[in-house]
Amino acid sequence: MLQIQALLAILAAVLIPLFYLWVKVVGRRVRPLAREVQEEQARTIAIAEENLGMLPAIKAFTREAEESRRYRAQIERVVRLSARERRFYAALGPGTHLLAAIGIVLVLWLAQAAVSHGVLAAPQLVSFLLYGQLMARPMAGLADLYGQTQRARGALGRLAEVLAEEPEPGWDQGKRMPPIKGAIEFRGVSFAYPGREPALKHLDLSIAPGETVGIIGPNGAGKSTIAHLLLRLHSPSEGSIWIDGVDIATISLRSLRSQIGIVPQHVLLFHATVRDNIAYGRPEPTQEQIERAARAARAHDFILGLPQGYDTWIGDRGVRLSGGEQQRVALASALLKDPTILILDEATAMFDPEGEREFLRACSDVFRERTVVLITHRPASLELADRVLKLQGGEFVSAGGEGKVSVRAQ
Ligand SMILES: Nc1ncnc2c1ncn2[C@@H]1O[C@H](COP(=O)(O)OP(=O)(O)OP(=O)(O)O)[C@@H](O)[C@H]1O
Ligand SMILES: [Mg+2]
Repeated sequence: MLQIQALLAILAAVLIPLFYLWVKVVGRRVRPLAREVQEEQARTIAIAEENLGMLPAIKAFTREAEESRRYRAQIERVVRLSARERRFYAALGPGTHLLAAIGIVLVLWLAQAAVSHGVLAAPQLVSFLLYGQLMARPMAGLADLYGQTQRARGALGRLAEVLAEEPEPGWDQGKRMPPIKGAIEFRGVSFAYPGREPALKHLDLSIAPGETVGIIGPNGAGKSTIAHLLLRLHSPSEGSIWIDGVDIATISLRSLRSQIGIVPQHVLLFHATVRDNIAYGRPEPTQEQIERAARAARAHDFILGLPQGYDTWIGDRGVRLSGGEQQRVALASALLKDPTILILDEATAMFDPEGEREFLRACSDVFRERTVVLITHRPASLELADRVLKLQGGEFVSAGGEGKVSVRAQ
């Protein structure tokens, strides 16, 4: 183009920065919008998922209409945002073509004088315009690519945040814990959930191997938090936790957690058969071992009453079982793992009194061989404990209130 007509070529080149500016300005708008669309879409899915899980509560509180409205409003927000983002993105291509067209018109307008003065021949003008068009097409492609990149960068921003989250230390990172004997020691352990008041304050606790320690205390006292810290689901903000004289912060998560059994306060069961749920923590157990654990957890009889016995599917999060039945399955699963340290966090809270009595009778043997942390509000269960500690506001107190005193159970 320079060879054909230098002046006109330079003029055409002036359009390039203009094109760059256009793409930059529009692209800058696309990126935050793409990010926002991504966030709102995630929120939409979260609402749908929550509402499906909360269906019984929504029905019980007759909030169907409000929830439908909330979901609809969220969808509309996504549609509005997507439309805005699309509009900007869609403006990129036509905008570039418009710039190119302006260039062509400009060249034609300037060229007509040159042609009439005989400086530029008509065939040269045609070649010039064709070259110009050849240049415009990849530039439009570039603009499109730039728009796509900006959209992707906006969406990736969110992903990058997720990826930047500090992961749990490697499963096998750290020393291997030798077979646990069961001595547990908390040394000045403090812990607070992010943005909350301390849940545990300078806690000292020493449990001998084979001991059964009951932990009682009001709601929110920090009982479950003790269990979570023992499993290293969280780490203490101050102090340390020792098992058999080893700081658990230094050992691998696999060797720690594989030797501790827990029945959590909120039982979570898989959409799988009863057998698979019980066998979850132990590779390939025999039917006999499963049944023994189920018997100890007082689950065997009700399982036999299910349509397909141990092969009955128990549905998402175990919803096809009653609350007490779910707890019995979770208990069987923890017992099957045969851990040296067993944590029972309100594990019998939903048992009927008769079931609890049977369980306690059966468990006095099971408990004798291992260290048991028995978190419970049930007086009957506490009879199994060698020692009962009361936790209040993150500290151990005597039943009266002051000081760090342990109370012997009758
Ligand atoms: N995941 C969490 N994020 C933030 N705060 C939490 C979390 N879990 C518990 N807490 C807070 O930590 C404190 C101790 O909770 P924890 O679950 O240990 O109580 P608890 O003694 O087990 O009570 P409950 O008898 O009701 O089971 C409470 O104030 C609670 O609100
Ligand atoms: Mg709790």
